[in-house]
Order: sequence, then C-alpha cells, then structure tokens
Amino acid sequence: MEKVFGLIGQTVSHSFSKSYFDEKFFRDGLRDYRYELFPLASINEIEKLIAETKGLSGLNVTIPYKEQIIKFLSEVDPTAKRIGAVNVVKFKDGKLIGFNTDSEAFGETLTNWLPKEKTFQALILGTGGSSKAVQEALKKMNISFKIASREKGKGNYVYEDITEESKIFEQYHLIINTTPLGMSPNNETMPPIDYELITKEHYVYDLIYNPARTMFLQKAEMRGAIVKNGLEMLHVQAEKSWQIWNN
Ligand SMILES: NC(=O)c1ccc[n+]([C@@H]2O[C@H](COP(=O)([O-])OP(=O)(O)OC[C@H]3O[C@@H](n4cnc5c(N)ncnc54)[C@H](OP(=O)(O)O)[C@@H]3O)[C@@H](O)[C@H]2O)c1
Repeated sequence: MEKVFGLIGQTVSHSFSKSYFDEKFFRDGLRDYRYELFPLASINEIEKLIAETKGLSGLNVTIPYKEQIIKFLSEVDPTAKRIGAVNVVKFKDGKLIGFNTDSEAFGETLTNWLPKEKTFQALILGTGGSSKAVQEALKKMNISFKIASREKGKGNYVYEDITEESKIFEQYHLIINTTPLGMSPNNETMPPIDYELITKEHYVYDLIYNPARTMFLQKAEMRGAIVKNGLEMLHVQAEKSWQIWNN
C-alpha cells in the first residue's frame, strides 16, 4: 500500500521539505512513498485531512501549528513535551505521536558551526515553536540566552530595548532569528533591530532557508558578521523525522 507523508502549515508552498523527500524516495527506490504539502487554514482541519488521506503515515508540522497540534495527539515524546512544540507526527496503531526534531537539528548544526575556542551568549528573536526548540538546544549546550519579542512580558526584551545605550548586542554575540520575518514571499521584511549595532564579532543564524539569504542575513553580513541560514537544519531535522517514521 502507498505510504503518504507530508507537511502541514498555514502556507507551505515555500517549503523545501517536499523536494527533499521526493528526491530521497526516488534515490532509495521507494516507489510507493509520497510526500505532499497540506496547507491548512486552521489546525482543526487536521481531523478531516487524516480521515481523507489513505496511507497517511507521518507528518511534519510548520508555522503556525507546532504548538496548536499538541491537543490532537494521543502521545507526546518527553523532549517535545518539555519544549512545548511538535514538528513531527508519527501514526502508529491508530495513534498520533508527537516529536520534536528541530531542537536536536538546530543544536547539531550550531555545534558544527560555532568556533570551539569562543564562548557565546545568545539572543533569540521570537518566542514561538522554533524559539522553544532553540532554547532547549542552547540549554543542552550550556549557552546562556535571552529572548526578544514584540510584546512585553513574553521574552526578556522587546525590540525597542535593543539600543546602543542598552549595550545588549555587545553582550550577545550569537543572534538567532526564529521569527518568520524575511521568509518567502515576504522577502522584504526583517526583524526590527538596529543593524548598525551588529559587528564582525557577531554570529548570526537565521532559521529561514528560503530565500537563502534573508534581508536579516544580508544586513548582518554587510556589517561583517558571520552568518548561517536554516537549510542545513532543515535537512538534519528531515532526516531525523524519517528515522522516527521508520522506527
Ligand atoms: N530551518 C528549519 O529547519 C526551520 C525549523 C523550524 C522553523 N523554521 C522557520 O522559523 C520561522 C518561525 O517558525 P515557528 O514555527 O517558530 O513560527 P511561530 O511558532 O509562529 O513563531 C514565530 C514567532 O515569531 C514572532 N513573530 C511572528 N510574526 C512576527 C512579526 N510580524 N514581527 C516580529 N515577530 C514576529 C512571534 O514572537 P513574538 O510574538 O514573541 O514577537 C512568534 O511567536 C519560520 O520562518 C520557519 O520556516 C525553520
């Protein structure tokens, strides 16, 4: 029987997950496997999707449903529970089980990227599902961090706090964008920070991979920062999803 995997999210056309799995299934000779994009206007549409999709065996979850999906699951793996966000759903014996592979994927790619001889404090932009996965990874790596949000009380800072006088960017040499600002098709948007405060001491990681160089990364690079996009993280989390679906 055909096995169907896929990605749910509000808008999923920007995603590279389908091409990643299409290539994988082709390469591995998995002719009965398909990966589909399932845009859902509301998370409540998930029940209809499950009922109507024959052979559905696994789902990836993207913005803005990584937290909202949890109430539809029969079980949540302890790490995903601790993070409070699920980006992988496995269908097993009629049960829906949630996992988080974003956190490990981010942690692995960050470890490989940062120079070993330096110590960092991090500033995370955004407080959503992927922010929580990043927070978990940083805790494991013993990297202390603070969080910036649009709303007072959700993080440690609001964007307006990040000024030359507050010297916040002088303390946090690792800046991680977990907001969707700059993601295709909204390529012109970017996190509302003063980019003049970024220096060549900064390491700037954007979880977005489409476009490959967001305005956020371009502006940081122009200031001499070392930058990284989310493509490697996407591949690592996809491979980890595959292992979960096949385990
Ligand atoms: N490379 C990868 O493998 C990978 C993995 C996961 C996610 N991502 C990318 O990460 C991004 C976020 O995904 P997510 O699932 O974490 O989304 P999410 O749960 O909706 O969270 C995004 C957060 O960004 C902030 N935000 C949203 N709209 C904003 C705006 N207009 N201005 C400023 N801040 C805004 C919000 O925090 P505040 O309300 O606190 O400001 C929100 O909680 C997406 O672009 C996604 O594609 C990539």
